[in-house]
Amino acid sequence: MRKFSKALLAIAAAYGLVLPAAHAATELPRLESVGGRQRLLVDGKPFLMLGAQANNSSNYPEMLPKVWPAVEALHANTLEIPVAWEQIEPVEGQFDFSYVDKLVSEARSRKIRLVLLWFATWKNTAPSYTPAWVKGDPARFSRMRKPDGSAHYALSPHDSDTLRADARAFAALMRHLRSIDPDHTVIMVQPENEVGSYGLARDYAPEAVALFKAPIPTELARAMSKPRKPWREVFGPRAEQFFTSWHMARYIDQVAAAGQAELALPMYCNAALGSADSEEEGQTGPSGGPNWNVMAVWKAAAPHIALIAPDIYNRDANFVERMFDNYAKPGNALFVPEIGNAPEFARFIWPALGRGAIGFAPFGIDRTAYANYPLGAKPGEDAAVEAAFTPAFALLRPMASDWARIASEHPTWGVAKPTDGSDRATTLGKWKVTAQFARWAFGEDDWTWIARDPHPLKDAPVGGATVAQLDADTFLLMGQHVRLRLSPAAPKAGESGQVINAEEGSFVDGKWVMTRRWNGDQIDYGFNVGAQPVMLKVTMGTYR
Ligand code: DGJ
Repeated sequence: MRKFSKALLAIAAAYGLVLPAAHAATELPRLESVGGRQRLLVDGKPFLMLGAQANNSSNYPEMLPKVWPAVEALHANTLEIPVAWEQIEPVEGQFDFSYVDKLVSEARSRKIRLVLLWFATWKNTAPSYTPAWVKGDPARFSRMRKPDGSAHYALSPHDSDTLRADARAFAALMRHLRSIDPDHTVIMVQPENEVGSYGLARDYAPEAVALFKAPIPTELARAMSKPRKPWREVFGPRAEQFFTSWHMARYIDQVAAAGQAELALPMYCNAALGSADSEEEGQTGPSGGPNWNVMAVWKAAAPHIALIAPDIYNRDANFVERMFDNYAKPGNALFVPEIGNAPEFARFIWPALGRGAIGFAPFGIDRTAYANYPLGAKPGEDAAVEAAFTPAFALLRPMASDWARIASEHPTWGVAKPTDGSDRATTLGKWKVTAQFARWAFGEDDWTWIARDPHPLKDAPVGGATVAQLDADTFLLMGQHVRLRLSPAAPKAGESGQVINAEEGSFVDGKWVMTRRWNGDQIDYGFNVGAQPVMLKVTMGTYR
């Protein structure tokens, strides 16, 4: 801060004056493109969100003492937590920000950043978090209509009254944040939650039907290089989903824009997912939501939304990695705002990081004794949840900014143990990287001269690794319950790989600090990492 501003602040403080927020504000969080990747900047520096999402009804001051201990035990640096429309505007036009004030001030004093989840017109597609004055006035705030004219449960994205009311409340929230949060404890905001419509692909109200019969919007035609013809003609069997996606994204974009006019924080939308591979009927999550197959529609419709993000509750490793690939695209940073908190989901942090994820947050992290099994952990499994997610977070938290920088500037790769336990491999430059699971740290698979017990984690859904290539022959390796090997991808005749140097360590203030060298048993059978994740900096070479 310039000397002049400091002096001004000192004078203001002496006279008990509060300066406009702009004087004290630090740099706004934002997404920045580096090469093909996007990274999140907080306080002007790359930031990796090691997140924890609280349960749905933990958004009350009396609940916060049950939230912080769980977040802190996980070594998370960010809490994602709802702010409900019904709680900030219980009476139309009268706002109550007492919860938001307490939340932001407690987070700030704990050095935990916040992502606010704006539960409003759509929460898991339903209007359950709208104020009673919205729920109780269907004539003013209309529901989608079924073909027979009867009311569907979800609010219509075509209703300008609902949009105006939602956007006004959201703008009030963001204006309030601007006044209480000059140092940006809140780093991102999620307008709405898992939007879309289950059981009805589009609104059949007369004005919505007219829109569906009309040509697609010019911006969409341009963005997707499509002719400006009616929806059905352009998108065929996907027309209804694309139509509803456009209108929901457009609606949310206007809510986001109203909020950003007050405080321009980065905003994202989360998706209830369909299939990872197919966009056939019924495989796309709720119609209108930011499923991967409508990313182009969302990008064209919602320029104020920085990214769309997958909520992961499927335990199959193949599904999870395919879904990460579907969302980690140029112009759409991978962010995992929700992932089940059952222990087996913890290993998916490694493939997320390997795809440059800006954040990763298990859902249902608090001590309110609620459990969303079968999506996540069972009741009473808090200790197991903590044990599963903490190790990677604890390793990364002190160097979260370093990792975010490295991942945005270097090639990276990450895997989790597949459901069948098989090896995973990739090529980075001239090196092949192989990850193997459930191996003892000593010995090779083909040894027959000594008896061995089967590895106790043979069938356990644990293990994963992330690799960054710092230069042609130097790699950062990290992971848990994994054996990693580097070998020449295309060796010349008689050429073999060798470890030149392998250091365990971490980044401190942006610099690599070694704690020890790995050698001997620790490298003779690959780099074997057990329950305690580590970061290794490895330089490889060859000999003939
Ligand atoms: C996904 C939603 O986004 C969350 O708010 C929550 O309802 C979970 N599903 C289920 O616990």
